[in-house]
Amino acid sequence: MAEEEVVLFAVSGGIAWVTLNRPAKLNAVNAAMRAALGRAARMAAEDAQVRVVVLRGAGPRAFCAGADIHEFDEVPSAAEARQSRMTARWLQPLEELRKPVLASIHGYCLGGGLEMALACDIRICAEDASFGFPETGLGMLTGVGGSQRLPRAVGTALAMDMMLTGDRISAGRALTAGLVTRIVPPAALAAETEALARQLAARSPLALAFAKEAIHAAQDLPLQDGLRLETDLLSLLLNTPERITAVRAFGQMPGLEGGSGNPEADHS
Ligand code: COA
Repeated sequence: MAEEEVVLFAVSGGIAWVTLNRPAKLNAVNAAMRAALGRAARMAAEDAQVRVVVLRGAGPRAFCAGADIHEFDEVPSAAEARQSRMTARWLQPLEELRKPVLASIHGYCLGGGLEMALACDIRICAEDASFGFPETGLGMLTGVGGSQRLPRAVGTALAMDMMLTGDRISAGRALTAGLVTRIVPPAALAAETEALARQLAARSPLALAFAKEAIHAAQDLPLQDGLRLETDLLSLLLNTPERITAVRAFGQMPGLEGGSGNPEADHS
């Protein structure tokens, strides 16, 4: 299969649809897919039309069943090992997107698939989804942030249980644990994902970018520094035309007080 085809990229209505496309292999991530995913994320970053990115898996059975195990069959040569260290941060272009990234998850979400989902901003899943990190059973460890992001998402106890045992958890358990925030029947996943993506695409891109930045910073910063960052980001937003338009539109909604009905007369 040509490199381009292992990840499909399509933009429509402000939404970039990024589809992992090796359904016969449960969308297992091979080198071609890692490279194509990076390209897709960079295209989404550079395209001003794109307001939100959705990551999903092709076929009925999986979002992604993890790294392609066949690539681990042999001990890599020194050159391959060097190359693999250089490409170890293959999720970086996705992580660095300032636009909201949704993971729309069905079926298996394992290993590198779960790492990809964890690098997204919002995770919505179908009731048939299951989540796990099988790596330790293969004598390995997560490689693109799983051991760091899973405990931040679900707490140390469940992260430890999942990583040490390799046991999968259900969609329902993932919802309770905070690994996903929305769960829908499998037949509704596509429509619910699109509705959520449209909702995000209609909001101020800068406000969403700053909200992402503030929440990511909250993982690392002492509270006082985080509060200062939030104030700084908000003050940067206060005079943007998008904010002024949005506040005026709110004031003019039927049944709401405030707003004279004359945008020129309103002061923000
Ligand atoms: N890497 C490469 N190929 C994979 C894969 C992976 N991670 N996961 C699934 N596949 C392939 C299978 O080899 C099989 O291909 P084939 O039909 O050419 O033999 C196809 O996808 C379907 O998988 P199969 O194992 O037949 O489906 P199943 O329903 O019996 O089991 C899983 C599904 C997900 C439980 C099982 O495929 C599995 O455990 N996969 C490995 C998951 C994993 O360890 N990921 C982390 C790697 S670090």
